[in-house]
Amino acid sequence: MQIFHHISSLRTALKKERLAGKRIGFVPTMGNLHDAHIELVKKAREANDIVVCSIFVNGLQFGLNEDWDKYPRTFEGDCNRLREAECDYLFHPDDREMYPNGMDTQTRVICPTMIDVLCGASRPGHFEGVTTVVTKLFNIVQPDEAVFGLKDYQQLAVIRRMVEDLCMPVQITAGEIHREADGLAMSSRNGFITEDERPRVCQLNKSLNWVVSEIQGGRKDFDQLELEARQQIEGAGFKVDYFTISESRTLDAAAVDDTEITVLGAMYTAAARLIDNVSISLA
Ligand code: PAF
Repeated sequence: MQIFHHISSLRTALKKERLAGKRIGFVPTMGNLHDAHIELVKKAREANDIVVCSIFVNGLQFGLNEDWDKYPRTFEGDCNRLREAECDYLFHPDDREMYPNGMDTQTRVICPTMIDVLCGASRPGHFEGVTTVVTKLFNIVQPDEAVFGLKDYQQLAVIRRMVEDLCMPVQITAGEIHREADGLAMSSRNGFITEDERPRVCQLNKSLNWVVSEIQGGRKDFDQLELEARQQIEGAGFKVDYFTISESRTLDAAAVDDTEITVLGAMYTAAARLIDNVSISLA
């Protein structure tokens, strides 16, 4: 695996691959890689000749009181995992390389829908930071396909919309959610879960699946279902950030005749905020 810290040298290397007719798959990450990231790398390999991964802890998507400085940086271990997964190129820029004019005056990409709800409601500016850095990364790598994890469902929906609206020539592919044996979705933030919390955190996933089975069983009282699910999570000892039944593409509150539904939840442990979702098709 070749490691690049600078945009110009990565571009030169990828230009050669493109001229040789190679199809390029891309997996953007913030590092601290776990099994679910490696599955994204494998997915990118399926339909591409070259796999590029990036590791950049993007300050633009963290709020003032968020964990940018605490975010785990595990570069050596990440490189070993990526080598094992046969990633071809790793892009690991620093802040100056990505934001040479500073973050405050950086030109932004703003998706006007879906960004102020769910995770966006408690993380103002987060999705603007994501769409801006993903656009920059797409411009740098120019991938044919980019793979994003389904766990960050809202991020995936916003990126899909951005790519459609801005006619970006990139195929967006979703990588399945990877779970621990008890259903906990794998996440870089799971390291912040305490031993005492660990047996109880799977309640988020249990409640999502319970709501899905109730909907499949014919219930349409979405507000009541959301309320009951919140109570289950609170009963397990966690503060709920949101729990919503949404239309899968727009993320608007689901209507009774919607057929593509995604149930999304976020809750707080003592030191982390965990998210998860489950989608169903009623068509
Ligand atoms: O999902 C992530 O790790 C980040 O939001 C991403 C897409 C790499 C942008 O910084």
